[in-house]
Amino acid sequence: MHSFKEELDSLKQDGLFRQLRLIESSQGSHVSINNQTLLNLCSNDYLGLCNDSRLKIAAIEAIKKYGFGSGASRLVCGNMLLHEMLEEVIAEFKETESALVFNSGYCANLGMIAALSTKDDIIFSDRFNHASILDGAILSRAKLRRYPHKDMFSLESLLKQASLFKRRLIVTDTVFSMDGDLAPLYEILNLADKYDCFVFLDEAHATGVLGSLGKGALEYFNIKSERFIQMGTLSKALGGFGAYVCGSKTLIDYFINKARAFIYTTALPPSVCASAITAFGIIKNDDSLRNKLRHNLQFFRDGLRERGFKVLDDPTPIIPLLVNDIKKTMDFSRLLFEAGIFLQAIRPPTVPKGTSRLRITVSAAHKEEDLEFALDKIKMIGKQLGVI
Ligand SMILES: Cc1ncc(COP(=O)(O)O)c(C=O)c1O
Repeated sequence: MHSFKEELDSLKQDGLFRQLRLIESSQGSHVSINNQTLLNLCSNDYLGLCNDSRLKIAAIEAIKKYGFGSGASRLVCGNMLLHEMLEEVIAEFKETESALVFNSGYCANLGMIAALSTKDDIIFSDRFNHASILDGAILSRAKLRRYPHKDMFSLESLLKQASLFKRRLIVTDTVFSMDGDLAPLYEILNLADKYDCFVFLDEAHATGVLGSLGKGALEYFNIKSERFIQMGTLSKALGGFGAYVCGSKTLIDYFINKARAFIYTTALPPSVCASAITAFGIIKNDDSLRNKLRHNLQFFRDGLRERGFKVLDDPTPIIPLLVNDIKKTMDFSRLLFEAGIFLQAIRPPTVPKGTSRLRITVSAAHKEEDLEFALDKIKMIGKQLGVI
């Protein structure tokens, strides 16, 4: 027990101790913490669907009809109508032959990457990929080669040395979760063609957001290839919980048979699937939320630039504000909290050492006046701390 405490004390000393914050309200543009209402600038609820009445009604109706729990894993007796309906909706939305639902993005990456590669295979992973990708790669026991962020030259030189491996898998987030930038998918596909690789795409932050129909990065870049295996989550723009993979029927059958994180876990409650079906319907039939999100993003990025911050132009809802120093980042977050804004500090190991940041996320649920308020407070505190 003692050594646990020592480890925690050392985290505290380094400014890396993490604590849970209690949200007393539902999710939304504002949340309640310690009986105080704060503007929320750190949720992945990009379209404001977490508390949408249509999703709530869908869940309630599904509970009335199918009960709450699913009783077992999909392969035992937990495979219910709403799971399969959701998979049909996803396959149609993503224009693939088939789809499969997982219990979370973390589980999906762990299960699929470990199923795709064995010790005779090799995995190439962008250094900024999500932790679940790294964990899946480690679990697979394949040779793991991590290339510097978006560095295609390094990726190619690693690929050149990998011809003897049985299966070569390139894995990348399409939208990087802490930086908000896009993976160079054209270049990655060119290399995959040249060196005969599969490409596993994590669309967690792209689904529902990127592309004019919200279908994700492949729509945005207007590319298609049999080499792509696309996973995404239902937990971010979709406002719910769970994840999916989509592709050929053969690929889906492969995961049903090989992905342990699919096989050995209780299926999602049907109500979660019902809400996800409704969320896909909203995303498919109504682009007003996506347009509002785009407007808000432009407004916020412009506002930050006008106030002296350096901001990239990627079309994603994630805007990193680099502070670098851990203590200063924590101070920034605390002072914002005191000024009525909830914006968590992101520190190592989530991001590389020396790149601590505020990871701002903008949502369709924000009003312009909310964003204006945030911009002014961020500028004021940024100046006070010497960040601008
Ligand atoms: C890129 C990426 N992949 C996967 C996940 C995991 O998804 P989930 O939260 O649904 O487990 C996340 C979530 O933080 C993510 O950012």
